[in-house]
Amino acid sequence: MKNIEYRDGKLYLLDQTALPNRIEYINPKTKEDYYYAIKSLQVRGAPAIGIFAAYAMALLDDDKYELKEYLDSSRPTAVNLSWATSRMLNAYESGKTLIDEAIAIHNEDIAMCKKISEYGLSLLNDGDGVLTHCNAGALATSEYGTGLGPLLLGKERGYTFHAYTDETRPLLQGARLTSFELERARIDVTLICDNMASLVMKQGKINAVLVGTDRIAANGDIANKIGTSGVAILAKHYNIPFYVLGPYSTIDYNCPTGDDIVIEERDPSEIKEMWYKEPMALEETKCYNPAFDVTDNELITAIITDRGIIRKPYKENLQRIRYND
Ligand code: MRU
Repeated sequence: MKNIEYRDGKLYLLDQTALPNRIEYINPKTKEDYYYAIKSLQVRGAPAIGIFAAYAMALLDDDKYELKEYLDSSRPTAVNLSWATSRMLNAYESGKTLIDEAIAIHNEDIAMCKKISEYGLSLLNDGDGVLTHCNAGALATSEYGTGLGPLLLGKERGYTFHAYTDETRPLLQGARLTSFELERARIDVTLICDNMASLVMKQGKINAVLVGTDRIAANGDIANKIGTSGVAILAKHYNIPFYVLGPYSTIDYNCPTGDDIVIEERDPSEIKEMWYKEPMALEETKCYNPAFDVTDNELITAIITDRGIIRKPYKENLQRIRYND
């Protein structure tokens, strides 16, 4: 099941908001369709947003400079979005065929995810219990994924893992998407509420935490789905390795620390109403709904990229993999 497919001159997008109940594809045509698909999370996950935006840049006839600005403004935290649209703009300026560039970005992501999954798998043991937060599987990328990649690749190689997936309030990517993907891959998965992570760690069920990321600052601080930093703090308390997995394109060397990462704020209705038959709070009740939080680098055991496994000190070691930019 592909999340993004370019076929016969058209782009098909698996609508992630319909999962796990319905498998529906949409066919965006205008720049507003593309913007809405990203904003409403029909397509989500940092690498997948970048791939999708690259196709938008290739397929739409709009002014490429304005289009880049427009698409970039849809979701500010995932650096992969502006990284992909910048690359498409460079291709446009140098007269390349844009659809070929978009397909290259898509194919490169498949290769990067495979490498990340290989590195991640080398850190796990057969039989491990693994906690995940949000969704960093094939739905969020191209194939395999980042955070889920080692589990999916390991399954192919005959490993048995026991995955625990945080439901991931408020948008439930863990429940709707991660448990769906792992069930389909026939990997043992148990869904837990976000506030149960401490208990399963205390009970000795978790050997490693694997998460994706939307932006890695130059000092190794990372932004990921809201709640990730709490999981990292718990992992430190219980002495469980906390691994962050993401492609090289997720490193933002122009962003010195996590404090410099722009955090997207989303509509309060996602907390109060979205998944309920009736509102769960009064209309006048204030809500604060940041989509991401920042995990301090000191809580991270290793950052796993397609260019290798990076350990502390992150500032120096992230510079070491900076070549061929
Ligand atoms: O708001 P979302 O669902 O796009 O958030 C996604 C995440 O936080 C993922 O973990 C991250 O993008 C990495 S995806 C490989």
